[in-house]
Amino acid sequence: MPGTAPSTLTVAVVGATGAVGRTMTQVLLEKRFPMTSLRLLASERSAGKSVAVPGWGDITVELATPDAFEGIDIALFSAGGGTSKELAPEAAGRGCTVIDNSSAWRMEPGIPLVVSQVNPDDLEAHEGIIANPNCSTMQLMPPMMALRDAVGIERMVVDTYQAVSGTGHKAIVELEEQVRAHAEGRPKVANVYPYPIGFNALPHIDVFLDNGYTKEEWKVVTESRKILHLPDLRVSCTAVRVPVFMSHSEAVHVETTAPITPDRARALFAAVPGVVVMDDPTNKVYPLAEQAAGSDLVFVGRVRQDPSIPDERGLAFWVVSDNLRKGAASNAVEIAEVLVERGWVASASRRGVGAGAGGRSGA
Ligand code: A2P
Repeated sequence: MPGTAPSTLTVAVVGATGAVGRTMTQVLLEKRFPMTSLRLLASERSAGKSVAVPGWGDITVELATPDAFEGIDIALFSAGGGTSKELAPEAAGRGCTVIDNSSAWRMEPGIPLVVSQVNPDDLEAHEGIIANPNCSTMQLMPPMMALRDAVGIERMVVDTYQAVSGTGHKAIVELEEQVRAHAEGRPKVANVYPYPIGFNALPHIDVFLDNGYTKEEWKVVTESRKILHLPDLRVSCTAVRVPVFMSHSEAVHVETTAPITPDRARALFAAVPGVVVMDDPTNKVYPLAEQAAGSDLVFVGRVRQDPSIPDERGLAFWVVSDNLRKGAASNAVEIAEVLVERGWVASASRRGVGAGAGGRSGA
């Protein structure tokens, strides 16, 4: 049942002073999101400070409390899992639709976990909280959707090369300082990561789980299955932090159900909205982190047959995307755009749609 989009929308960014939160505000403005009011929320460390927002003047940062969500239609959260666990239900209970960038709600049954061009129909039954996927999972999903729909997918092995901006503003500052220290012959001091990230590669993102994987790696496993609606998909991942400021890169190996050639895969990838194929290795054309930074697109290249899998059912490729934009802020805003376009800003219960209602296409 379609809902009615409010004619005036109040939007809040929670964690507005952080790396992702600032990008969320920037993307809302760039996309001319149809809001009539913009509020910026953060912790007591920033509450009361003034932030200059182009076209909106100076906005005073407010303390994120349950009552702060009165009158807010859509809140984009990127203030850590603990804040989301505590405040997202409070916001939803006050009629606000939360799009949450933390991992707090992603695997909860009934909470949509959505990549805007992959499974937007999952948004219809939302009950006030919507989860934005992990940045590493996010950029994988558009090309994997294309393979799923065309030839089926059996197994995916992903190795990530992740930028420090995914850890937040403090990690950007730490890498800059370590580069400076190295150039000046001083010791590199690590506070954010267990070891210096400058001139290093750390196979350790988030905490280690009992199965030997890190939580970041396991997010790729479980979130991919949920987004692609493939609960039995075989997935493995190694997640590595590298001294790159912006954009995550990923080496992907896929076993498909039916045969596929690299040429057909390139055509399938290029047909997905928001995906660009850059694949001309003889002319040194392949996706690069620095080039992807600042873009909302997912770049795919180095597409080749994986000969370790028989019958032309193996494919290897390289995927790069800006982790703060498509990997976080831009996808959150794109979800908000879908909600507005389809009249789903209010939760399903407020729209009179029961959880698990029909009309979902199962993309
Ligand atoms: P603040 O700047 O007031 O600490 P990053 O991921 O770049 O480190 O940013 C984290 C963001 O989350 C910041 O905007 C930070 O606000 C915000 N934040 C952290 N803890 C809370 C909290 N308890 N309530 C609201 N916002 C929070």
